[in-house]
Amino acid sequence: MQKIILQTTADGSHTLFVQGLNEHYHSTHGALQESELVFIQNGLHHITECVKEINVLEVGFGTGLNALLTVLESKKQRRKINYVAVEPEPVDEEILASLNFALIIGGTEATGYYKKIHEAGWVYPAFLSDYFIISKIHAKLEEITLRDEQFHLVYFDAFGPDVQPELWTEQIFTQLYKCMKNNGILVTYSCKGIVKRALKAAGFSIEKLPGPVGKREVLRATKVRS
Ligand SMILES: C[S@@+](CC[C@H](N)C(=O)[O-])C[C@H]1O[C@@H](n2cnc3c(N)ncnc32)[C@H](O)[C@@H]1O
Repeated sequence: MQKIILQTTADGSHTLFVQGLNEHYHSTHGALQESELVFIQNGLHHITECVKEINVLEVGFGTGLNALLTVLESKKQRRKINYVAVEPEPVDEEILASLNFALIIGGTEATGYYKKIHEAGWVYPAFLSDYFIISKIHAKLEEITLRDEQFHLVYFDAFGPDVQPELWTEQIFTQLYKCMKNNGILVTYSCKGIVKRALKAAGFSIEKLPGPVGKREVLRATKVRS
């Protein structure tokens, strides 16, 4: 088990630092602002309105911050979201209980949803509201088989390519391409050359987008079948 330390980022929201990897779960310039821009604004807000029910896959569930922002959006947009989150090393319950995301977002609703997200088990889907179903999968992405052409949106939130290069490969992105619908999008915070090359080799079209504070650019990749 890796030693994990809770830290506060520049926007006041928490993140976790994994000592053995020398890696944070989020940007130290602001965990909340990073997730909101990279995954919600660049990803969820970019799914066209004709999709009435959105299937989202998250690679690297971690603290559940992206799931929390997504459940809140599902209610705001009154759009149904089926959320599948993959995580091989769930964060300790005690650490999860100390994280301040819901507090910073504000309102009892965020607190209630955050609790429900973490109470959801790892075997059966949990119905959090009329608009949001979460299925948490306790496994590595490489170990699971996902149905073809299933997801409209992928949040790719693994540890960075420097510490986890095995997840930022053509092979992994090909696995994701297959399980995505045509015109489906994958969003991620890394804009490194090897990431762009691996995404292109897997068949994605890529766009560089302005990053959150502390990061020049982030990526959106689209599955466009020729
Ligand atoms: C950058 S952190 C996640 C951030 C997370 N989305 C959050 O908001 O807290 C990377 C996550 O990927 C998970 N992870 C590591 N190896 C993985 C794998 N092979 N497949 C899926 N997830 C993995 C880690 O355990 C960690 O929770």
